[in-house]
Amino acid sequence: MEQSEEMHRKVSQANVDYYNKCAKQYEVIEETIFARENEERVHGIIKELGGKYEQGSLLDVGCGTGNILRFALQHFKEVTGTDISAEMLERSRQYTDRLVQADASQLPFDHDSFHVVTAYSVLHHLYDPFPVIQEMYRVCKKGGVVFTDNDPNGYFQKRFKWYKNLRKKLYKKKYDQSLPDEGSAFQEDMKLAEYHHYYADGLDAQRIKNMFEKAGFAEVNVMFRFHPRPNLFTKVIKVLLFFEPKEKKCPFLMVMATK
Ligand SMILES: C[S@@+](CC[C@H](N)C(=O)[O-])C[C@H]1O[C@@H](n2cnc3c(N)ncnc32)[C@H](O)[C@@H]1O
Repeated sequence: MEQSEEMHRKVSQANVDYYNKCAKQYEVIEETIFARENEERVHGIIKELGGKYEQGSLLDVGCGTGNILRFALQHFKEVTGTDISAEMLERSRQYTDRLVQADASQLPFDHDSFHVVTAYSVLHHLYDPFPVIQEMYRVCKKGGVVFTDNDPNGYFQKRFKWYKNLRKKLYKKKYDQSLPDEGSAFQEDMKLAEYHHYYADGLDAQRIKNMFEKAGFAEVNVMFRFHPRPNLFTKVIKVLLFFEPKEKKCPFLMVMATK
């Protein structure tokens, strides 16, 4: 088996194992995703996308416990979720029964099926995001939109690696306490599942843009953002680096791509 195929399999399996074990605590572990300010921001984006299509359909890839689905239900006629972890998917059932367990690199949907395809905080969990971007392109309708968000910006990650390491040490105890006590194999799964946090320095914005373009999207817009509720460090960065371009100082990247 080719090395990259083997790595894809390992990282996918780690995601299954990790998320199956921590599905119940997910909202506690990912508290920044579920901070009110971020929820309002994301809901605004989904509402705007819903407004573009009458009787619109949305597929959320890596839907987890339903973060995007719960907003999409209010603005799309038809909402579908897919995830590789059965336990995470089960928790999405509170929002819809249109759920399919699948690896996002092989989406079990026809070509041109959905007006909008989303993947929130998912790309950095994949060993190679490209096959998933290709699949999102394939199942998206012509003129439809793919939206990804909450992936670590590689420029920021490399530049402030010292901060990332310091933060990991400072918050290790708190973070470990929010995780189930499942031993060292679980810790290994967690690192592999968070592949681009632990084994790479986030996602390179230019490479991600190239991937979307190579997949065939007509228009690709890569954007950089701060967390809407910045911590002290990010506040300081915002002031100190006021004149620098956003790509150098924002921790997150998001993509809006039109097919
Ligand atoms: C950080 S969570 C994000 C969940 C959700 N999108 C949210 O906004 O809360 C990452 C999700 O991606 C899923 N995932 C990871 N690798 C995947 C893959 N290869 N195919 C499908 N889902 C995957 C995980 O199971 C997990 O539910």
